[in-house]
Amino acid sequence: MSDMPNKTNDWFYPPEEIVKNAHVPDYEAVYARAQRDPLEFWAERAGELEWFEPWEKVLDDSNAPFYKWFVGGKTNIVHNALDRHIQTWRRNKLALIWEGEPGDRQSFSYYRLWQEVNRFANVLRSMGVKKGDRVTIYMGRIPELPIAMLASAKIGAIHSVVYGGFSEQALADRIEDAQSKVLITADGAWLRGKIVPLKETADEAVHRSPVVETMIVVKRTGQDVYMEPGRDFWYHDLVALPIASPTCETEVMDAEDPLFILYTSGTTGKPKGVLHTHGGYQVYTSTTLKWVFDIKDEDRWWCAADPGWITGHSYIVYAPLILGATSFMYEGAPTHPYPNRWWKMIEHYGITILYTAPTAIRGLMRFGDAWPNRHDLSSLRLLGSVGEPINPEAWRWYYTVIGKERCPIMDTWWQTETGGFMITPLPSVPLKPGSATRPFPGIEVDIVDDEGNPVSPGTDGTLVIKKPWPSMLRTVYGDPDRYVEQYWSKYKDKGYYLAGDSARKDEDGYIWIIGRIDDVIKVSGYRLGTAEIESGLVSHPAVAEAAVIGVPDELKGNIIYAYCILTSGFTPSEELNDELKQHVRHEVGPIAVPAKIEFVDSLPKTRSGKIMRRLLKARAMGLPEGDTSTLAD
Ligand code: WTA
Repeated sequence: MSDMPNKTNDWFYPPEEIVKNAHVPDYEAVYARAQRDPLEFWAERAGELEWFEPWEKVLDDSNAPFYKWFVGGKTNIVHNALDRHIQTWRRNKLALIWEGEPGDRQSFSYYRLWQEVNRFANVLRSMGVKKGDRVTIYMGRIPELPIAMLASAKIGAIHSVVYGGFSEQALADRIEDAQSKVLITADGAWLRGKIVPLKETADEAVHRSPVVETMIVVKRTGQDVYMEPGRDFWYHDLVALPIASPTCETEVMDAEDPLFILYTSGTTGKPKGVLHTHGGYQVYTSTTLKWVFDIKDEDRWWCAADPGWITGHSYIVYAPLILGATSFMYEGAPTHPYPNRWWKMIEHYGITILYTAPTAIRGLMRFGDAWPNRHDLSSLRLLGSVGEPINPEAWRWYYTVIGKERCPIMDTWWQTETGGFMITPLPSVPLKPGSATRPFPGIEVDIVDDEGNPVSPGTDGTLVIKKPWPSMLRTVYGDPDRYVEQYWSKYKDKGYYLAGDSARKDEDGYIWIIGRIDDVIKVSGYRLGTAEIESGLVSHPAVAEAAVIGVPDELKGNIIYAYCILTSGFTPSEELNDELKQHVRHEVGPIAVPAKIEFVDSLPKTRSGKIMRRLLKARAMGLPEGDTSTLAD
């Protein structure tokens, strides 16, 4: 699937109603206009937000690839996401509607959310958290997660959210890299009717990375957890203190001051801390959400991602709030207690736009049409997809059974590093199932060969972004060399950004993403690095060496295969196989558990000692081995 672009050339035209009423009814015209003068275009977009002080320069490219946007501008993304709405009628509009997996519900008007954020921001400030300090957040999908993010940003701290599906070592590495003195977590999270023991994992991670001085714990599930005196505090106790007043001054930030670090998997070694800033990120995420999902005041927007990934950062937390939209967030599994959970909630809350991942669509499709058909889904007007290429079967099911052939599907290609949608239709753009269509206005992309020359239509090549954009990552936290090396070195002369994906363009200029060209595996839309899983495996005494690959899978997009060389004294067995899977679950997280572990005596390597994962993959898939000239015997 990820390796095979979905060839269909069927056109799907958006309903006239949608085109006529869209924020951008004419993509071509807006794209051409942005291309003529991108800086003027971005300045106009930025002008739709509030700034404490205007910028002097839209783009400073004097120290490329360390680009700066809206230079000299003073702002704070939380001012645009919350503070300014309190002065308008939106004060009483719903900002967030939330449903927990057990069925409990909460809703927050802009005013209430603003107050909650202020309370917690005051708590953090009183604990000595200052501008530039890093705060790690490790939680399930509960309202306190966006509240903690916004509270940190409000006082100028840099948040680093670690997805709640990661385990000890993954969390410890991220705490260590960010040098966070504060960790915000919960006693647990509900998932499939069970409790994910977040606090236990957090304790172990802090044991491994003792930089954390304070842990703040939200009571979500209510089971007994260990609380270390002097270090651990209950969230509800802190926000009840007199210090936690419902008003809090917003820190004035430079446009280029860091907003957050989000760790993502790369080609090698430890995860990369992708760094985003206040100014450009707020402009780009809000513009893309407004135009691509055509957000209107009457919408109920549901981005079903996790706030722990970039999709949630940009399109659950920041962009919808900046636009003054109403968002919905759900805590748990789509199939709990039955496979109609999502459809039931769409009906109940009158969701108008659903944005999710192909793997979720495929997962729900398996249960058949009867589940969605039991519900009135007529409130929906637009659908969205993200995370991996969507196969035509899933596309058609989504379009027909969920969208009743009325709702265009916005297939958005983007990355943690890009901050927002890069290649995506707008509601007015005719669709082809499986293609993310065309670049967003102001964005220039191409498919090139190894020399950086454009390949002809229909040919596979490397996807590059040709010009800087406001929400681009600014660096890899603490490792500027890695930033340059990873993203900008391959096409240095041309100044192209290397996305790490292969793609092709068809005769109509439509882009078809094929998949990653590096050692990143997309499992159920989650981005994992082979290196992280491999080091999880070799941290077990039985494993001397490990190699991990992604193999295409009907449901998950890719699944993980691991090849392990055992330490002498250990012998292959079913029990060891299970134990290693448990070990990875424990160390890295449930999403990183290999579907299959094979014990081998050797691994194919280049003469310079690099594992040839390409070869392992070809073998696993029964494909030709290709060029093996660099293989050491
Ligand atoms: C893949 C997720 C095809 C791609 C927002 C990219 C996609 C990686 C799509 C980034 C899409 C994301 N079609 N592939 N619509 N969207 N990808 O950083 O390989 O978790 O490089 O960001 O996901 O994953 P990340």
